[in-house]
Amino acid sequence: MLDINNIEFFGKVETPFWFYDMDLLRNTVEKVASLASRYGIDVHYAVKANEEKRILEYIASKGFGADCVSGNEVMNAIGCGFPAERTVFAGVGKSDREIAEAVRAGIGSFNCESLQEIYVINAMAARLGIRARVSVRINPGVDAHTHRYITTGTYENKFGISDHEFSDVVTLLKRCRWIDFTGLHFHVGSQITDVREVFSLVCERVNPIVSYFEDNGLEVGSINLGGGLGVSYEDPDGEPMADFETWFGTVASGVRRREGQTLHLEPGRSIVAQCGTLVSRVLFVKVGETKNFLVLDAGMNDLVRPALYGAYHKIENLSARLRPNLPQSQAYDVVGPVCESSDVWGAGRLLPLSVRGDLIAIRSAGAYGQSMSSRYNLRDPAPAVYSDDMHGARLRTEYFQE
Ligand code: LLP
Repeated sequence: MLDINNIEFFGKVETPFWFYDMDLLRNTVEKVASLASRYGIDVHYAVKANEEKRILEYIASKGFGADCVSGNEVMNAIGCGFPAERTVFAGVGKSDREIAEAVRAGIGSFNCESLQEIYVINAMAARLGIRARVSVRINPGVDAHTHRYITTGTYENKFGISDHEFSDVVTLLKRCRWIDFTGLHFHVGSQITDVREVFSLVCERVNPIVSYFEDNGLEVGSINLGGGLGVSYEDPDGEPMADFETWFGTVASGVRRREGQTLHLEPGRSIVAQCGTLVSRVLFVKVGETKNFLVLDAGMNDLVRPALYGAYHKIENLSARLRPNLPQSQAYDVVGPVCESSDVWGAGRLLPLSVRGDLIAIRSAGAYGQSMSSRYNLRDPAPAVYSDDMHGARLRTEYFQE
């Protein structure tokens, strides 16, 4: 929760910056760890959601594995303390260099997304003289009811291997001398809010597919259902924790596990989204022909989700909290400084009367915020400030006394 002490301190810090509430991160990780042990589920944190060293090191220290989608993510995760054998590597386009590095590192599994990839990994493992562990990522043809850019499990999507190739996969895997087949992987999408409904459907697809592989002579040791649990972007203070109970419970009861089979999940967003806030300042208040604009110093290069997906993030004027009871009655188009018309934080947002210099919080920004940021317009990367040691922050320089 952003309290008044934060706000007074934020006033001295150069904006924009990412603020991470480490107490919330710790509570969330502990909750996930306790559910994981209750339900016997192995958790791999999806590092793409937030790859800040300090965050990775903390999550690794709690015994989680890592889910990666590039060679650099694999090496970075291992460097931050995730054990190689609990690191998995998905993605439809792994390069030869990435495959070789991950084989040498001895990762827990390549989640393979095509027949050709299995073939190439086998050949590279043979050349390196190191056996590679491989899972097969399946496209289950399940609609996750989420934004079309983050749906991954329908037949329209590039991810996973679909039914018509199962028998070829079985034949190929039996022929690959340098591959140890470990299990099956599924990931149907992200920001899933119909948790019970979507994951029950996923489980109904998973069970017969697992049986198919086992009936055809391949032992499916691990069943990985990916990530995807949604968070509340509308009410980050009311719902700081995602509904992990429903997710873990649905998956644990829905997947038929035989003796010795392990079950895995790969949460990213649900672990880190709510602990992160992008803190910005109002540069200018501009009266337009038909609307008023609040121009912030944070832009789509910092957090691209609104521009890319039309995503909603709650916006709050923190400075106005220090002014007596202003109603949220001004409609503003809150925009960034980047030279793109899609650089809009929110159109027609109701906020208290806002003035130049006000601190603005863009909430639920811990996942796919800093990790997706760019230097577009040659803007400086916004630094991270952690609640544990706020005094490490870059303090503000006053250029003009007004
Ligand atoms: N496992 C795999 C194989 C994935 O591709 C992903 C995310 C995850 C796990 C973690 O999913 P999560 O628990 O975070 O939903 N940039 C988008 C989200 C892209 C998700 C990509 N894959 C956004 O900002 O909404």
